[in-house]
Amino acid sequence: MTDVAEEDPYLARGFAPLRQEFDCPDLAIEGALPPELLGTYYRVGPNPQFAPRPPYNPLMGDGMVHAFRIAHGRVGYRNRWVRTGRWVRENAAGRALFATAGPFGDDPEAGPRPPDGVANTSLVWHAGRLLALEEGAPPVAIDPVTLETLGPYTFGGALPRNMTAHPKTDPATGALVLFANLPRGRLTGELALHEADAAGVLSAARMVQGPHASIVHDFAITPNFAVFVVCPVTLSLERARAGGPLIAWEPQAGVEALVVPRAGGEPLRFATAPCMVWHVMNAFEDGGRIVLDLCEQDVAMFPTVDGAAPDAGRAAQRLARWDLDPGRPGGVTRRRLHDFVCEYPRIDERRTGRPYRYGYVAGLGGPGTGDLFQRGLARFDHATGEMAVWDAGPGVAVSEPVFAPRGPEEGDGWLLANTYDEASEAGSLVVLDASDVAAGPVARARLTHRMPMGFHGLWIPQP
Ligand SMILES: [Fe+2]
Repeated sequence: MTDVAEEDPYLARGFAPLRQEFDCPDLAIEGALPPELLGTYYRVGPNPQFAPRPPYNPLMGDGMVHAFRIAHGRVGYRNRWVRTGRWVRENAAGRALFATAGPFGDDPEAGPRPPDGVANTSLVWHAGRLLALEEGAPPVAIDPVTLETLGPYTFGGALPRNMTAHPKTDPATGALVLFANLPRGRLTGELALHEADAAGVLSAARMVQGPHASIVHDFAITPNFAVFVVCPVTLSLERARAGGPLIAWEPQAGVEALVVPRAGGEPLRFATAPCMVWHVMNAFEDGGRIVLDLCEQDVAMFPTVDGAAPDAGRAAQRLARWDLDPGRPGGVTRRRLHDFVCEYPRIDERRTGRPYRYGYVAGLGGPGTGDLFQRGLARFDHATGEMAVWDAGPGVAVSEPVFAPRGPEEGDGWLLANTYDEASEAGSLVVLDASDVAAGPVARARLTHRMPMGFHGLWIPQP
C-alpha cells in the first residue's frame, strides 16, 4: 500500500485490507466446537482493492465477504471481494478510480459511478438469497457457498434504487421489512418503507417524510410499526459545494423519532434532545407505548456545519431505552440502561419486535474511548440489568457478536464473532455460549492470516 494508506488509521492494524482471497477447508480448532452448531457465519466489511484516493472514507471501501462454514467438527473459511461495478472497473484499471469520501473527487477517467455501490456493510438471508448490503445502493446477491457475486438484486425490479443495510425479518411472518433512506437520491429527508414477503415479493414504497436529510442507518420493527430515529446529522450538497462538510453534526435540529404504522396511516412523531444513533437493539409494543432499545452517543463523529472537528470525548456509545408514548405530551422518556460503552447491538432474532430479555454487544473500546477497536463481547440482561463481559485480551480486536440459536428458548445458543490479534497479525472465529459470555470462547478456529475488522455479520443455519 502507499504511504497515504499506511497513515490512515482505517487502513492500518486491524483495518488494514486483506490483499488475497483464500480457500481454507479445515482450520485449526481449539476447544470444543459444539456438535450441534451447523451452518455458516458470514462477515462483511470494507476492504479496498487498491490504495484509495484520499481522503478515505471506510464506509465506502470495497466490500469483502468472509464465510466460516461449520459442519461435522470442521470449520472451513473462504473470503471474496464483492465484484461490484466499481470493483470490476478498478480491477481493470489496476488502481482506485472512485472517491470514497463524497460525490466529488473521482479520477477523470473513472466515468459514471456504477449503481451497485460497494456492498460492504451488512448481509441478510431472505427468500433463499444471500444479499450483501450497503445503504446507498441495491443489494448484491452472493452465492452462499462459493461467495461468487451474482449481481445487483432488485426484488425483480420492484426496488427503485437503494435499500438499508439493516432490514428486519418479522419472525411471525418471515416478511423482510426494509427501508431506503433518500430513496430518490435527493437530499430531501424522505424515507421509503417496503416489505418483502417470505417469498421475496416486494411491496410498493410508502413514502415517509423525515424532518431533514440525515443518516438513518438502522431502524426497528414491531408487529404493527416501523420505528425510525432521525438524528441531527444533516446532509447538504449546497454546503459541500461551498466548501463545507457534506455531512455535519447540527445538534440544534434535535431528534425526531417516527413511528410508522406498517399497515398504512400517518406516522406518529416524537421530538427529543440531540444524540446520534447508529444501531438499534430491538423494539416492542407495550400497551399503547413503543419501547425502543438502542446505542446512543451524545455527539456524532462528524464536523459541525462550520467545519469544526467533532468532540470525540463525547462520542462514547451506551445502551438506552426510549419509551415512546403517544398518549403523553412530550411523549419520550429516555434512560440509560448501563454505563458499559458498547456498539453493534444484536439479539436472538427470533425475538425481533417482541418483548425480549437479552441483548448482545461489542465493547471495551470504540468511539469515545481513544481506541478504534472493540476488545470484548457482552450480554445485557434486561431482567436483571447485568452486563456479562468477556475481555478478549491485550491487543485483540473483536467484531460484532452474532447469535446462533440452539434450543427454542430465547438466548439458548451461541455467540459467534471474529477477532484480530495485533501480535500474531492473524484472525480467528470465536464461539461463546450465549448464556455464559463471561467465560469466553468454548471454541476458536484460527486463521493464519489477518481478517480485517468489518461491520456486520450473519448466521445461516444448515437445514
Ligand atoms: Fe450498521
